Amino acid sequence: MTTMTQDELKTLVGRAALDYVPQGAIVGVGTGSTVDKFIDALGEALKSDPGRISGAVSSSVRSTERLTALGIKVQPSESVTSLGVYIDGADEIDHAGFMIKGGGAALTREKIVADLAEKFVCIADESKLVLVLGKFPLPVEVIPMAAAQVIRGFEKLGGQAKVREGVTTDNGNVIVDVSGLNIESPARFEADINQWPGVVTVGVFARNKASVCLLGTPEGVKTLA
Ligand code: 5RP
Repeated sequence: MTTMTQDELKTLVGRAALDYVPQGAIVGVGTGSTVDKFIDALGEALKSDPGRISGAVSSSVRSTERLTALGIKVQPSESVTSLGVYIDGADEIDHAGFMIKGGGAALTREKIVADLAEKFVCIADESKLVLVLGKFPLPVEVIPMAAAQVIRGFEKLGGQAKVREGVTTDNGNVIVDVSGLNIESPARFEADINQWPGVVTVGVFARNKASVCLLGTPEGVKTLA
């Protein structure tokens, strides 16, 4: 079996995601090291085909900077009513396409842009595939004054929660990371936690789950749909 580094697996799926981008489309772009590979692949494609996409809607300052550096026009999400496709990574994904996201603290804008899209294509290396969500500490974006209250709420559910040090989101909030959860019913969990006062976004993506997952493996890209 060929051995491939995690970085090479990310490059593989970043390139494979191009097949899901219609010619001339405005593409929704997520955030993270795997998405960076997708942005690089877009940049390469544009060299030989300047009309390959007409622009992007980005989910973070980080991705906007990378897209802009490659000459890709970034439009505000308010300027579009829908997107054909949104490409993003995940911290965990299960076999039904439910995900934990927010390792890069961009979950709120990611959910907003994902919600505009007809199709969510998740790109991830095979280490992200799990049977049950929750091993990766769940990121939750919280308004700062509610952080201690939200932490106590998760402790009542049996989790251990703490504010991520040194991180302020693009929206000026904090991230609470929660470990020790076993998220058996992602849709119900997402709906419940989103009701808590001060919670801006919970990092479970169930309403906006992946339509397709391109999983990087040493044997090539596996497609989970
Ligand atoms: C950022 C995210 C990322 O998609 C997630 O953290 C995966 O990142 P990477 O591709 O670097 O592993 O949700 O908020």
